[in-house]
Amino acid sequence: MNTQELIKIEDDYFINTFTRQPVVLDHGEGVKVTDIDGNEYLDMFAGIAVNALGHNHPALVKAIQDQAEKLIHISSIYYNEPALIYAKKLVDKTSFDRIFYANSGAEANEGAIKLAVKYTGKSEVISTIDSFHGRTIMTLAATGHDEYHEPFKCILPKGFINVPYNDIDAIKEAITENTAAIIVEPVQGEGGVNVPDNDYLKQIEELCHENNIVFIVDEVQTGFGRCGTLFAHELFDVKPDIMTMAKGIGGGVPMGGILATEKVASAFVPGDHGTTFGGGPLVCAAANAVLDTIDEENILDNVNEVGDYFIEELKKLDKEIIADVRGKGLMVGVELTKPGAEYVDKFREAGFLINCTAGNVLRFVPPLIITKDDIDEFVKAVDEIL
Ligand SMILES: Cc1ncc(COP(=O)(O)O)c(C=O)c1O
Repeated sequence: MNTQELIKIEDDYFINTFTRQPVVLDHGEGVKVTDIDGNEYLDMFAGIAVNALGHNHPALVKAIQDQAEKLIHISSIYYNEPALIYAKKLVDKTSFDRIFYANSGAEANEGAIKLAVKYTGKSEVISTIDSFHGRTIMTLAATGHDEYHEPFKCILPKGFINVPYNDIDAIKEAITENTAAIIVEPVQGEGGVNVPDNDYLKQIEELCHENNIVFIVDEVQTGFGRCGTLFAHELFDVKPDIMTMAKGIGGGVPMGGILATEKVASAFVPGDHGTTFGGGPLVCAAANAVLDTIDEENILDNVNEVGDYFIEELKKLDKEIIADVRGKGLMVGVELTKPGAEYVDKFREAGFLINCTAGNVLRFVPPLIITKDDIDEFVKAVDEIL
């Protein structure tokens, strides 16, 4: 079947939820992906900030192949070695004490909010406008986009308060005696790659301590090296009570998780929360390979060096259409003075996969193994296309 025939299957059979790019991707290697017609693209999107090691990384492929031959799924009722090894390895690298395995970012955030509510016995959660925390009913309420709420308003849970991002006074005003948690992205992703002031997270941490509120960082997009440290909250010198993760954790296999301090984690007892698939041997084998490779290939150094270079090169472009260039590590946004959707098509036609978020922000979240040469090729295209 050709591209048009395949895409027609989506039109005829899928529930209509996505606006897709008209390409059928077939295989990938490193930072490149190729469609079924043989067109090659530089992947500046990495499956929405997921493919941390790029495509077809030998360590990740081997880990998945080896594990698939042994055991793919056993449920959460039995122990499996990859999940146990990974838990220790990850906890040792962070300020947290305990893990819960989930399957996606939304599911991780659901669990985190449940944990905060159980721990505090309180019912209000503060989140930020333009945040993105997921599409399930509760994480939708936490997500600060009225237009996403609108069709489901009748069923959204009460108790979620969305306040402006990077505005500590707005949080102070929103705190009540019922506040259970504040959930925040260290850098907003879907909201337009918004980097907060250096002291924003620290001030949230202080407010949480003073008021006995659980501080949740949503690192679904910023985690696993994306912003140049293993987790982006480390850049702001804070120790949250809970962190949620997904996307890059498994390098492309569907996985998520929650990390929590001993104190907060102790609120859950068997029966409070669960999952059939979470922490399965296959995804945990992949997650071990991702974490080991981040260390072995000094990927954080690459993110910092190439990320800084990328932002500098973009800032050198002198274009009226560019309103701002911002980001951390390899989470980079170029804000345009006009809507960006048409540029996504232009980039794709020129051989580059990108995305536009918040209406006018071109978002670049490439694999963390990208090189300066790739960036040179891409920035040249940005220059020409814009
Ligand atoms: C910060 C953040 N949290 C949560 C989610 C939801 O993750 P998932 O799509 O895996 O449910 C996303 C997805 O883009 C995200 O960027």
